[in-house]
Amino acid sequence: MSEVVERWGSRRAFIIAVTGAAVGLGNIWRFPWMTGENGGAAFLLLYVVFLALLGLPVMVAEIMIGRAGRRTPMQALTFLARDVGKSRHWGLLGLFGGITLFFILSFYSVVSGWSIEYLVEAFTGGFASRTPQEIGSAFENFLASPGLVLLNHSIFLFLTMAVVASGVGSGLERLNNLLMPLLYLLLILLVGYAFTTSGFTTALSWLFKPNMSALTLTAIFNAMGHAFFTLAVGAGALMAYGAYMPDDQSLPRAVITVAVLDVAVALLAGIAIFSIVFSQGMDPASGPGLMFVTLPIAFADLPGGALWLGCFFVLLLLATWTSSINLAEPMVAMLGSAGLTRPLGALIIGVGVWLMGLPSALSFSIWSDVRLFNDMTLFDLATTLPIDIMLPIGGLLIAVFSVWVVAPPRAMEAIGAGERFYRVWRAVVRWISIPLLILVLLGFFLMK
Ligand code: PHE
Ligand code: NA
Repeated sequence: MSEVVERWGSRRAFIIAVTGAAVGLGNIWRFPWMTGENGGAAFLLLYVVFLALLGLPVMVAEIMIGRAGRRTPMQALTFLARDVGKSRHWGLLGLFGGITLFFILSFYSVVSGWSIEYLVEAFTGGFASRTPQEIGSAFENFLASPGLVLLNHSIFLFLTMAVVASGVGSGLERLNNLLMPLLYLLLILLVGYAFTTSGFTTALSWLFKPNMSALTLTAIFNAMGHAFFTLAVGAGALMAYGAYMPDDQSLPRAVITVAVLDVAVALLAGIAIFSIVFSQGMDPASGPGLMFVTLPIAFADLPGGALWLGCFFVLLLLATWTSSINLAEPMVAMLGSAGLTRPLGALIIGVGVWLMGLPSALSFSIWSDVRLFNDMTLFDLATTLPIDIMLPIGGLLIAVFSVWVVAPPRAMEAIGAGERFYRVWRAVVRWISIPLLILVLLGFFLMK
């Protein structure tokens, strides 16, 4: 259980790494899907409230634990608990996080595979002169072909595990940092295009004028889960990063920077996608395919559209690749501390995640008739379980650990923003985040 001595080279390097984990499918794919399914602005408002009251305070807690422990998540938790004479079983929270990451990666890889398919289609001219209807049915046909979906899932997972096995993740991160501004630029360009469509103003009022009667219990759970998912909080992935944080960095400032960027990316994607939805007379509640059936329509309208679409998916895949590496890394590190080499650990996790991805991959083809609990498809279940249930439970335990177990002087030092901030943060976590989390989770289990 030796202490980590390396640090990120600069404050910026830490922010870049955390942004790499945060920005991904959550912003561009799941945020529009969820917002569309849950009635628009009311969901958005709720999500922002959860981000502020739960996501951000727990993000501070999670990174603080990694920084105060300066060890891998399980070891940091055990070390900090022992330090104050508490049970070393707190280390199991790290294991729970690892299992959560395992489930997340299994569907994340499948959906990233859909993007690989789109990238290939775009560059080989597959989208040329297709009508919006044809784009929609082509997507459905693709999802209904188990072989193709599995092939792309396999390719994506292989690319992720290869990087994790060889430990060159930091090199990829630099590439990612170089290219991510281009993704943001493309999204801004898309919003510029959206502005010229007839659906733009409808999209804005639908996204920003809340109609509270649209709020359902499911919307509340989805919004809470998404607040954790989009920030990559609740499973210890960021705890692992905290261990390498430079000594003189203010944690809250870094966290706010990442969160603002993360929300901005989601909003840009949302505005672009819903403008297309409303100008084409589509249904906002189109489910997990929403991004895939709207963006090609937008790009098709631009000169050189297929090329732009291809570039977009290259950049999106780069963003999801770094997120996946961040998902896989803590699991492989965990096997590493149990004595396994990186390649062997990556192989075991890779095979496990591939198998776990089968229900998601086949949910739209051979297993499309399977319905469990409350009429959920396998894909719904594979996304809901880790995002809406496991991340909030992990987040709750992390929050409890951060304010009731970690010795206050250690916590205050690891947050690195002075005593006043520490007291305010601790009060928010104790009296707002924790009760709110318990309330919503209880609601979930009582009502379902
Ligand atoms: N935050 C990532 C996204 O929005 C997903 C993620 C969750 C990555 C948890 C790492 C850990 O796509
Ligand atoms: Na995100």
